[in-house]
Amino acid sequence: MTPPNWRQNLLRKGGGFWKNGYWYDLHVERRMPLVVPMLEEMLAALPPLDEHTSVCDLACGTGNAAFAVVSAYPMVRVTLIDEDPEMLALARAKLGDLRVDAEAFQVTVATDGEPLPGGPYDVIVASLALHAIVGPQVEGAEAETRYELLFQGLRDSLVPGGHLIVADHVGTLGLFRQMKAMERAGFADVDCAWRQDDFFVCGGRIPA
Ligand SMILES: C[S@@+](CC[C@H](N)C(=O)[O-])C[C@H]1O[C@@H](n2cnc3c(N)ncnc32)[C@H](O)[C@@H]1O
Repeated sequence: MTPPNWRQNLLRKGGGFWKNGYWYDLHVERRMPLVVPMLEEMLAALPPLDEHTSVCDLACGTGNAAFAVVSAYPMVRVTLIDEDPEMLALARAKLGDLRVDAEAFQVTVATDGEPLPGGPYDVIVASLALHAIVGPQVEGAEAETRYELLFQGLRDSLVPGGHLIVADHVGTLGLFRQMKAMERAGFADVDCAWRQDDFFVCGGRIPA
């Protein structure tokens, strides 16, 4: 196939080929350097995990969050969720390099309060995921409502005592409002582990 026009790389607004997993992995650190400390801080924010821990990488893309978790805790059970089959295939291959055979679900997660497939999980990691699921065009009260519904679905995808760790950038909804939406959805111990400029790691826990 003829490659797409390279000038898409050079556009000031909306540039790049973010839906291509190979391009994504090549460019994500160059274009968003704070993604590197964000993933390190996401990992550091997790409680210790063991062979009984089920971890879901929500909107996993090429699997960078799951890869980080498995690199630190190779014994966990991993589930990958993404709507894009090519991304899922890359993520599974990346985890395969670590000898992990991850379960994968190709689904479009909606902001309708429904739980994720394959749960309940002990841990959900959502790296650069929630803003993508809620959508970039949404703002204001509608963004707040959609985040709250999404958090309700994630709450019902976790076991009692389960954790949701969110690593993302603000834009669709500010960090404070995301954390308030988590609380309204029933998460306890909601807090921010790290923030630099527009990137952050926050999380919460389902009461045991
Ligand atoms: C910015 S990428 C982040 C990928 C990865 N988590 C990371 O940290 O590199 C967003 C991912 O969300 C997926 N996605 C977007 N909307 C989705 C939805 N409603 N349900 C499932 N996956 C979705 C896209 O296919 C894409 O792989």
